[in-house]
Amino acid sequence: MKAKTPSESRTTLTDLVLPSETNPLNNLFGGELLARMDRAASIAARRHSRRVTVTASVNHVAFNRAIPLGSVVTVEAAVSRAFKSSMEIYIDVWTEDRESGIKTKANEAIYTFVAVDETGRPVEVPELIPETELEKQRFEAALRRKQLSLVLAGKMKPQEATELKAIFQ
Ligand SMILES: CC(C)(COP(=O)(O)OP(=O)(O)OC[C@H]1O[C@@H](n2cnc3c(N)ncnc32)[C@H](O)[C@@H]1OP(=O)(O)O)[C@@H](O)C(=O)NCCC(=O)NCCS
Repeated sequence: MKAKTPSESRTTLTDLVLPSETNPLNNLFGGELLARMDRAASIAARRHSRRVTVTASVNHVAFNRAIPLGSVVTVEAAVSRAFKSSMEIYIDVWTEDRESGIKTKANEAIYTFVAVDETGRPVEVPELIPETELEKQRFEAALRRKQLSLVLAGKMKPQEATELKAIFQ
């Protein structure tokens, strides 16, 4: 399988915040943002693997800034590391100032997707080769995050999480 770069999976979804998508403070409802991020991440995972992909885990979400009603929200997702059948997807969320058009980072999240065959069994995905400095940083830290996610899900024994142990030793 030919290795791919993050730019080959990069997916950008831009949409408005409508009244039915807000909480009582008139800001974007968290679950709505999670769904938008899941959609963008799913497309990025599909573009990298060219297979059916499923969400295996939401590893991290930071709702750093509230996003008001009427905002234009851009969700940008790209594969940050590919393992055997799983892919880490890094998602950046931006809002756009109406007058200047300047974009401000509002939130970010990290999801794990797994490529599967028609019966739902995991299948191998192409390797990812990071290019930019940011892509390299995200790639380097992804194994640590995968191990943490597996430990929290009860799928890996803490003593087997070599990358996590290395941080504390
Ligand atoms: C995700 C799923 C395919 C994993 O299947 P599985 O039988 O556990 O397969 P494996 O244990 O071989 O794991 C497959 C890969 O997923 C990774 N994985 C599984 N759970 C994970 C988690 N919580 N965090 C990070 N990675 C995880 C494994 O490390 C493995 O990665 P690798 O092949 O790159 O090394 C399976 O659990 C599933 O179908 N879940 C439901 C998905 C779904 O419906 N999502 C939508 C939610 S409504």
